[in-house]
Amino acid sequence: MAGNMAAALFVVLGLALLPVEGLDMGLGSIQTSVEEAGSKIRLICVLNETATKITGHRWIKANEVLMEDTLPDPTTVYEMDAANKTGDYSCLFLPEPAVRAELSLSKSPKVKAVKKSEGANEGDSITLACKSESFPRVTHWTWYKKADTGDQEIVNGTQDRFFVNNTESDSEARSKLHIKNLDRNSDGGKYVCNGSTSSGSGSAVIVLHVRSRLAALWPFLGIVAEVLILVTIIFAYEKCQKPEVVVEDDDAGATPLKSSGQHMNNEDKSVRQRNPI
Ligand SMILES: *[C@@H]1O[C@H](CO)[C@@H](O)[C@H](O)[C@H]1NC(C)=O
Ligand SMILES: *[C@@H]1O[C@H](CO)[C@@H](O)[C@H](O)[C@H]1NC(C)=O
Repeated sequence: MAGNMAAALFVVLGLALLPVEGLDMGLGSIQTSVEEAGSKIRLICVLNETATKITGHRWIKANEVLMEDTLPDPTTVYEMDAANKTGDYSCLFLPEPAVRAELSLSKSPKVKAVKKSEGANEGDSITLACKSESFPRVTHWTWYKKADTGDQEIVNGTQDRFFVNNTESDSEARSKLHIKNLDRNSDGGKYVCNGSTSSGSGSAVIVLHVRSRLAALWPFLGIVAEVLILVTIIFAYEKCQKPEVVVEDDDAGATPLKSSGQHMNNEDKSVRQRNPI
């Protein structure tokens, strides 16, 4: 049952959960998990087997009792505001001496690249973006460019080409690095966005490819060349085949035209010229 329950839960993004096995006092062991439901966080403890009848549950944080009940269930849930979700929580299964487990929540935010890889032509502009949906919200963003000599922090406004723009919505915090007038030699590479809260940080990497203008032009030039060659071939072909084409047109359905004087004569001539061959 505990397994099914654990499978039905999804562990909160951005929370590093460090479950500590319950002290085994011959009563069984406790499985811990964390579930996010809207703006609420649920901490869950499940006692998987017990020889002693459960007489209640108690939740503790830093020696403060948060909740206590006298229910006999093998599962206990503590719900709280997502905003408070930091620190070490303990669940206890009564009676004393209780079986207990700890849930240590650290709030290092999980940061994701909106797109892990971007490509653009030199001279163009590009926007690299990272986001974080973790609670509490990322409040501070930093961008770096990876280099052999170490990571180079990108300061907003550098070279009048690099601009950072941070936004926050109900569901996420987002940071965008806008790069103008891309340089093929210096701008390609790996960029790192780092988002932090008061107690932790997370980062993601975005790879930027900068193509040369000429490279961007090649497919176009290829098409132009193809079209030119095709047109040349068609012209050459038409030139060789012209007499026959005229006859075919004539046969195909231009019969009424035969009444028009000179035109018809020309055609007749060409037919006559061809027939002996
Ligand atoms: C309870 O959990 C312990 C440790 O995870 C495991 O060894 C034991 O088999 C479990 N018992 C049941 C009935 O699932
Ligand atoms: C970066 O600079 C631009 C203007 O130069 C400004 O609008 C923007 O808010 C700045 N971003 C940050 C993160 O300070």
